[in-house]
Amino acid sequence: MAPPWPAPRLLLLRRLAAARAISGRAYPPPSAPTSTPEAFHAHLASLAAPSRAGHPATLPSLLAALARARAARLPLLPATRALAASALLRHGRLPDALAHFSLLPDSAAPPAPLCNSLLAALASSGSLAAARKVFGRMLASAAELDTVGFGVFAKSVGRRDGLDEVLRLVDAVHHQGDSINKSVVAAMVVDGLCRERRIEDAWRALEDMRLRGWKPDFVAYRIVSEGFRLSERAEEEGRILKQKRKLGVAPRKEDHREVLLALVSGRQISDAKEMAEAIVLGDFPIDDDVLNLLVCSVSEVDADAAIMFCKFMIGKERFPSIQMIVQLCEGLCKNGKGDEMWEMFRVLLDKGYCTSERDYHLVVSFLGKAGKVREAYDVIKELKRKKLDPGISSYNSLMVALCRNDLLRPAKKLWDEMFTSGCSPNLQTYNILITKFAEIGESEQVQQLFDHMVLKGVAPDSTTYTSVITMLCQENKYEQAEEIFNKSVAQDPKLASSVLTVFVIALCKQGGFKAAVGVMSSLPSNIESFNSHVILLKCLTDVEEIEMASEHIKWLRRYCSSAFQNIMNELMASLSTSASLQPVRKLVCYLHSQGLVNEVGPWMKLIEDDYA
Ligand SMILES: *[C@@H]1O[C@H](CO)[C@@H](O)[C@H](O)[C@H]1NC(C)=O
Ligand SMILES: *[C@@H]1O[C@H](CO)[C@@H](O)[C@H](O)[C@H]1NC(C)=O
Repeated sequence: MAPPWPAPRLLLLRRLAAARAISGRAYPPPSAPTSTPEAFHAHLASLAAPSRAGHPATLPSLLAALARARAARLPLLPATRALAASALLRHGRLPDALAHFSLLPDSAAPPAPLCNSLLAALASSGSLAAARKVFGRMLASAAELDTVGFGVFAKSVGRRDGLDEVLRLVDAVHHQGDSINKSVVAAMVVDGLCRERRIEDAWRALEDMRLRGWKPDFVAYRIVSEGFRLSERAEEEGRILKQKRKLGVAPRKEDHREVLLALVSGRQISDAKEMAEAIVLGDFPIDDDVLNLLVCSVSEVDADAAIMFCKFMIGKERFPSIQMIVQLCEGLCKNGKGDEMWEMFRVLLDKGYCTSERDYHLVVSFLGKAGKVREAYDVIKELKRKKLDPGISSYNSLMVALCRNDLLRPAKKLWDEMFTSGCSPNLQTYNILITKFAEIGESEQVQQLFDHMVLKGVAPDSTTYTSVITMLCQENKYEQAEEIFNKSVAQDPKLASSVLTVFVIALCKQGGFKAAVGVMSSLPSNIESFNSHVILLKCLTDVEEIEMASEHIKWLRRYCSSAFQNIMNELMASLSTSASLQPVRKLVCYLHSQGLVNEVGPWMKLIEDDYA
């Protein structure tokens, strides 16, 4: 069992923290003005500005501001509650949004856009009881319902409670004017009913809604006839198709477009997906930009649906946007759908989608990412057959994929092929291979590659150096490691300084303390080494190599006198995270005997405890 937290250490930490705060290291905590409700409202409004909506810090700062207001017991204005609810809802915090909404006093009429978004969000998340309350409040305050709010709500109610409940809602809003597109809502409702296999209800809905003035359009009729077709009831299917021609209204691309865009921007992704499915499967018109947008948002939640939309688009001889391909493929990679990805790319390639090196690189890199290395290689071959240059980035993508899948023989073959086809490996290629070979301990290969790149005039970077040096240290080849490090010194002092840190850590990890001290004491003066000295001394202390640490401290005092005090201060700060106090005490005693620690410093407490 671990010993209890030693009291002197706690004290030490507190003092250190205090010392750091004085030296200006701590950042001031974020603050929200809580002097008056008006000032707070203005502050919250600036945090919730639409321009900040996509920023990752927005939600945390909103929550922090609201927490401060709560802590200060600041009474919030109704407008502030509404603002908070809208902003939280936009960030997907439905329960928090609802909490603020419910605190709105009855006298305050909540803004209609907030009500509609909340209604849709609650309904589609299955919280129908809460949705009904919001609906009731909207009717009471005459807040205008819109297509998304009422449509998603009515559809959810239909799915769970059947058509009669929907008709009750429809009757309750009969007085509502233009902001609900009743035809679109009818399509949403019958779609929901069919998805729950309430097919009779769906059929009845066509008639009952039409009689109430909610004229179903062709999309709605098609959904219901399709439902009957799937249940192999050809007779009803035919009857509905006849009714469609006689009673239905032609769908307007614009209306569905608007609702789809509103659903996506209100994050009602699965409702958007279901509506788009009805449109696409029925082969109704839909714009490319809507499809692109849909695929982007649906990819995360439903890769199959996203692929279906994409194929629909390709089937119409139209090409998806680059952004859509990127988002879709990321979703497919995440869901392990490499086969589907390849199938889609195959069609795109056959239709001539790729025209530039960049397009091909996109294809090759995603195939590689999905582990479809053979297919990725086929694409490169195809390119070469077409006398196109695959370009270094495609080769590198494939190389990464081969290494990731431990296909080293094909990787070497690809390497050779790059030379024969006149595409010289670049720094990235070398790094991919060096990192991989270093990781599996193929030191000879690593050395060869390193020498090769130097020979070819490709300058190594910090990834190269640190991979090689770490590997050599693991094999206890300290001198060779130092040789490589010396090369980085000759190449670029700044680079060498960052490599040095990794080098020292690697040496200490292997127990090569002497070698580490040796390296640190023979550095040229132009190498920034502050951190590395601190790291070395901390390692030495932690493993109780107090003598070696003391010697190095003496050396530092003599040869690095200008940086000496700063190094010691940083060392003390970093020692406060040591796992064991004993070595720290020893070091402090030594430093004290040498007159190297300040009498009034927090460290004295440690020694006093020692003597006590
Ligand atoms: C609602 O949508 C339908 C079908 O798409 C369309 O025919 C109708 O004109 C729209 N009505 C309004 C008020 O926008
Ligand atoms: C690396 O360089 C240092 C200082 O320039 C030198 O003392 C040391 O011997 C060199 N090490 C190797 C292994 O070449």
